[in-house]
Amino acid sequence: MPDPVYKILYIDHTAQLSGAELALLNLIQHLDTSRFAPAVLLFTDGPLADQLRRAGIPVQILALDSEINNTTRHAAGKSSALKLGKLFKMLRFILKLRRAISESNPHIVHTNSLKADILGGIAGRLAGKPVIWHIHDRFTEDYLPRRVVKIMRRLLRVIPRAVIANSRATAETLLLHPAKPAIIADPGIDPLPLLPVPPPSPAPDTTVNSVRPSRRVIMVGRICPWKGQDIFIRAAALIHPQLPDVRFEIAGSALFGEHIYENQVRQLVQTLGLQNVVSFLGFRSDIPELLSQADLLVHASTTPEPFGQVIVQAMAAGKPVVATRGGGVPEIVLETKTGLLVPMGDPSAMAAAIITIMNNPDQAKAMGCAGELRFIENFTIQKTVQQVQSAYESLIRI
Ligand code: GLC
Repeated sequence: MPDPVYKILYIDHTAQLSGAELALLNLIQHLDTSRFAPAVLLFTDGPLADQLRRAGIPVQILALDSEINNTTRHAAGKSSALKLGKLFKMLRFILKLRRAISESNPHIVHTNSLKADILGGIAGRLAGKPVIWHIHDRFTEDYLPRRVVKIMRRLLRVIPRAVIANSRATAETLLLHPAKPAIIADPGIDPLPLLPVPPPSPAPDTTVNSVRPSRRVIMVGRICPWKGQDIFIRAAALIHPQLPDVRFEIAGSALFGEHIYENQVRQLVQTLGLQNVVSFLGFRSDIPELLSQADLLVHASTTPEPFGQVIVQAMAAGKPVVATRGGGVPEIVLETKTGLLVPMGDPSAMAAAIITIMNNPDQAKAMGCAGELRFIENFTIQKTVQQVQSAYESLIRI
């Protein structure tokens, strides 16, 4: 008799393509479908749902009151987040969710975001299903409000049967009992789509009066205060007088109501007179191509980044990285071998590191090559899938 196929129901509160949701999409698309059948439940419709449908993965939308669903993790620390009316709506939602889970009848409920961990976790338990919490956020007070940290750490001990963390740094913040640690599954990426990329930089133009093609330093990610686009721009202002041929690109957009910050960042470019030097590329789905055309990736988070998928993407594209030292980042970047690490929130240190790499093309190339090797050995999606699937197997065996 063939082995049974186990159904996994993934739950996430958002359908925006933010880091954790991109990681989820990637994971689901690489599952061994001869053993695991994925289905996804989201609390809202949107780009993630579209991509899943296009990939032929069943998606169900169970709409959560948008006022609750759009509460940011920062606002969740304020007492207004827990008003009676909202609590009532949440309870009703949990009951609906429990019914949806029972109808879907999965072997495992896999929750992928904080709101899904709580609401999907409780509903999953009420439906009598084992729950896995997949944690992409650090449970610390520099990242989440103190109240949320407390609640999450408590629930962590009672709701999930198993916990997956996206880095050792994230796992350390969970304070789990050493006898029952989190499973670490770094969110990897697929090496295959990267094979046919165009040559790294535009071929040098050898015609007589040619202008040297400008070099590109790129930052990729959601535009929001803690991702540090402002620090990147301040570093650009320090670099520009010394390396006038270097251009700075910002790929990404404000996803969760952080438009005020985006406007401030655009204003900063004007104030510093960098309009011809810094460009905003908006949300892009061709990140591998953008990276392959860049000379260097900068990662500027000002609070410790839980993991930092874009760094892995840059390594896969064979590019050196300048990144801020915090959270999961030092687990990815090998200092001086695949990139340079700088303190968080320090434009001068960032500028110095960028200048060092831009002034040493041989070192930059060596870092890019070392990064690519490190990616192949440690950060492929195939490795992530293996770790997650073995978590499923051990849960099913219990
Ligand atoms: C979240 C984290 C980010 C991580 C991603 C995938 O978006 O903020 O650091 O790379 O999840 O785990």
